[in-house]
Amino acid sequence: MNTSHERDQTVMEMLSVKNGEGWKALRAIMTPTFTSGKIKNMFPLVCDKADALVKFSMKEAAEKPYVDIKKNFGRYTMDTIASCAFGIECNSLVDEKAEFPRKAEAFFNVSYTSVAKMMLAIFAPKLIKLFRLSINATETDFFIEVVKQTVAAREAREAGPRRGDFLDLLMEARDNADNPDTKHVLSDRSLVAQSVLFIIAGYETTANLLAFSTYLLAKNKDQQRRLRDELQKIVAEKGDITYQGIMEAKLLDACLQGESRDSTYGSITRFTPTWLLH
Ligand code: HEM
Repeated sequence: MNTSHERDQTVMEMLSVKNGEGWKALRAIMTPTFTSGKIKNMFPLVCDKADALVKFSMKEAAEKPYVDIKKNFGRYTMDTIASCAFGIECNSLVDEKAEFPRKAEAFFNVSYTSVAKMMLAIFAPKLIKLFRLSINATETDFFIEVVKQTVAAREAREAGPRRGDFLDLLMEARDNADNPDTKHVLSDRSLVAQSVLFIIAGYETTANLLAFSTYLLAKNKDQQRRLRDELQKIVAEKGDITYQGIMEAKLLDACLQGESRDSTYGSITRFTPTWLLH
């Protein structure tokens, strides 16, 4: 069980809070998580979770009057990050009552208490100190515990092939701390902090992007048709949805990023404000 003091100390170790040399050193450890080779290796896991998302949403569509797609995208994002970066199965897209997504949803839930604490932190930080209040969500403790348990499980595992994922990169940096040639040193707390940040930072951002994009595509059938045509053409060429195929999907890029690597679809950016008016 973590105390609020421990929770706050862990949050203070996160990359997003650091600056200067401390930030630079941490970034150097974390950046190799996203080399193209590593992303290619993650691709089958991402596809598995995408299949589970479709199955879960279709089942809901058959049973309920509507599907809360933002919630489902959150579950998809959570399962994908946990699986790719930590090898954790959180079953958010299998079990409606799974603990992982419930904690993540609660983490981002804005309550009167959380707003009041935030106001205090901004306008009366001394009171926060005096009453030893924590402005960080209590759900952070759940993610800290999950990470600690996953690290312990990996440490206890017989030596075998490494996954080479995000957690392996962090553990390697931590274990190299005694090596005089090591440039970047990571403490146990910092390892946990970066892992929790990773889970939280990718969750709401990606789920929101997917939810807004889906909404805009639903409102703009012509654009939706163009996108479907592009993807069907690529699938027909490649025989399936492949990493290479997704990299070639310029219109998909334009829809999700608001701009494309290909100037042909650059105009999509200019559509965006008009889409919102429909
Ligand atoms: C569409 C999805 C995403 C958006 C829009 C987004 C947006 C952002 C933004 C704006 C920042 C900078 C925050 C700042 O400077 O204070 C940031 C930082 C960060 N994001 Fe994301 N993000 C997304 C997905 C992800 C994913 C999937 C992960 C990890 C799995 C992730 C991990 C991080 C981390 C670790 C940082 C801190 C980087 C640093 O301080 O050097 N993000 N993100």
